[in-house]
Amino acid sequence: MATGLKKAVQVRAMLADDLSAAHGLSREQQWPHREQDWTRMLELGQGVVAESEGAIVGTTMWWTFENGFATIGMVIVSNAVQGMGIGRQLMEAAFADIGDRTVLLNATDEGLRLYRSLGFEPIGSVYQHQGAAFSVPIAELIPNERVAPMKVGEVPDITRLDQDATGIDRTRVVDYLCDHAQGVVLNRDGDQAGYALFRRFGRGYAIGPTIAPDIGGAKALITHWLGSNAGMFCRLDVPDDSGLSSWLDELGLPCVGRVTRMCRGTPPQRGATVRAYSLINQALG
Ligand SMILES: CC(C)(COP(=O)(O)OP(=O)(O)OC[C@H]1O[C@@H](n2cnc3c(N)ncnc32)[C@H](O)[C@@H]1OP(=O)(O)O)[C@@H](O)C(=O)NCCC(=O)NCCS
Repeated sequence: MATGLKKAVQVRAMLADDLSAAHGLSREQQWPHREQDWTRMLELGQGVVAESEGAIVGTTMWWTFENGFATIGMVIVSNAVQGMGIGRQLMEAAFADIGDRTVLLNATDEGLRLYRSLGFEPIGSVYQHQGAAFSVPIAELIPNERVAPMKVGEVPDITRLDQDATGIDRTRVVDYLCDHAQGVVLNRDGDQAGYALFRRFGRGYAIGPTIAPDIGGAKALITHWLGSNAGMFCRLDVPDDSGLSSWLDELGLPCVGRVTRMCRGTPPQRGATVRAYSLINQALG
């Protein structure tokens, strides 16, 4: 049966017209993405679908970056046809385009075995925190520090901070997100020291990326968004070593899931001055 199905499955480029069916697959997994979230991700990258008898039964997307990196996400195979080699076919189609770039992804437990067999190694974890009935923290700013709305002219500086924090040249993605999100900048002694974006995503809003010089700066940025959106459903995906998880729990944004950060190739080297305290999302990293 598996061999018969494999023959009948065609893997081809993902088109905008496929996104309604792709959204059906993420809903089947009880992932929160709206169709518009899929659209945004396809505008920023590319994907493949697995098609069987005219139905979309699997998806994989990827985003390539200028300095030798790529991320993979939205890897889904419909429940009815899992375990038949379709996930592997989709990943191999992505690798054909990604070439020899280092690839990063955030793996669910279901995906771990597939990714390990394709050469990915675990490099950490990411905690998913979310909720609506959170208490608003008090901003604890240090002297000469302020959080202010992002100005258009600040985007190049923000992009440099982002690359320092991640080791990845995400210029195109950051530019795009700045057009589709609200942003605030952490200013210290008159210089841009960090930033955080806030945008519609899934069931409510996502706060990310959050790029800051230290945990105090990260909390100041996140506090801005929580304070101005009390009671709204907000989500943050934070690296395990960010130190933010227990703070978010205490605020009433509990941890509802964990994924494994994995890397295939040499991991990016981030700079010493800033780091990422929350992701854009699990797919883009
Ligand atoms: C992860 C997923 C994409 C794998 O797709 P798939 O088509 O089922 O995978 P394949 O049939 O190509 O199998 C790939 C490997 O994973 C293993 N595998 C497949 N289903 C598995 C399962 N339910 N539990 C454990 N391992 C499994 C297979 O044994 C295979 O390894 P092998 O070739 O060494 O035997 C699919 O299970 C899925 O969509 N899960 C829900 C969504 C999700 O969590 N996606 C991952 C996001 S990071």
